[in-house]
Amino acid sequence: VSAVPLPLTTDRLVLRLLTADDTDAMHSYRGLAEVNRYLYRLPDSRQRCAELIASAAGGTTWQADGDALVLAVCRRGAPGLIGEVVLRLRDAAARQAEIGWTFDPAHHGRGYATEAARALLALAFGTLGVHRVYARVDVDNAASVRVAGKLGMRREAHLVENDVDPVRGWGSEFIYAILDREFRP
Ligand SMILES: CC(C)(COP(=O)(O)OP(=O)(O)OC[C@H]1O[C@@H](n2cnc3c(N)ncnc32)[C@H](O)[C@@H]1OP(=O)(O)O)[C@@H](O)C(=O)NCCC(=O)NCCS
Repeated sequence: VSAVPLPLTTDRLVLRLLTADDTDAMHSYRGLAEVNRYLYRLPDSRQRCAELIASAAGGTTWQADGDALVLAVCRRGAPGLIGEVVLRLRDAAARQAEIGWTFDPAHHGRGYATEAARALLALAFGTLGVHRVYARVDVDNAASVRVAGKLGMRREAHLVENDVDPVRGWGSEFIYAILDREFRP
């Protein structure tokens, strides 16, 4: 999106577009079973990571349903990728977007996912004019449930065996959401 002021910065983090140089770092966590445990997919190959980066590196037009802004998350002063956050336009007319977060286990538990997601929510509600942001979180994904809670998102639904995971079989998900007027940056 040309109107999106990138990179975004927070107290500790920089959120920027992905580049081909991020491929190995992305694969180092996306290739892990533990990272994909609640994502309803198998670990990604290095080739798959390269393809994902190629499709996301140019940003997005943020106009049509499905357009996605994928941002690399780095620590200030350290250019290496520690995770990623994504905002996907699900319904342009109703201004509904879905948010997601995935981080390298080497950097879990320091509040980075929450800090990065909060910056992305500010962008969604401020610059992009989104009305409602929601997240789908597996009911057993305690860390992600906690992140949604810290962001002030409301648990709106508990779906039961609504999806199937290639390893775990049937899985159930919570839907968390927050409205533009509810967000406190
Ligand atoms: C979910 C994820 C992004 C969180 O990243 P993170 O940077 O560790 O997140 P934060 O540090 O901001 O917050 C994590 C919170 O979960 C808590 N937590 C972590 N593991 C937990 C567990 N097993 N049970 C309960 N709480 C847990 C942490 O203590 C922390 O809460 P606190 O700040 O109150 O102490 C990370 O675990 C991840 O990448 N998981 C794999 C991918 C994934 O599942 N993505 C989400 C899809 S919906």
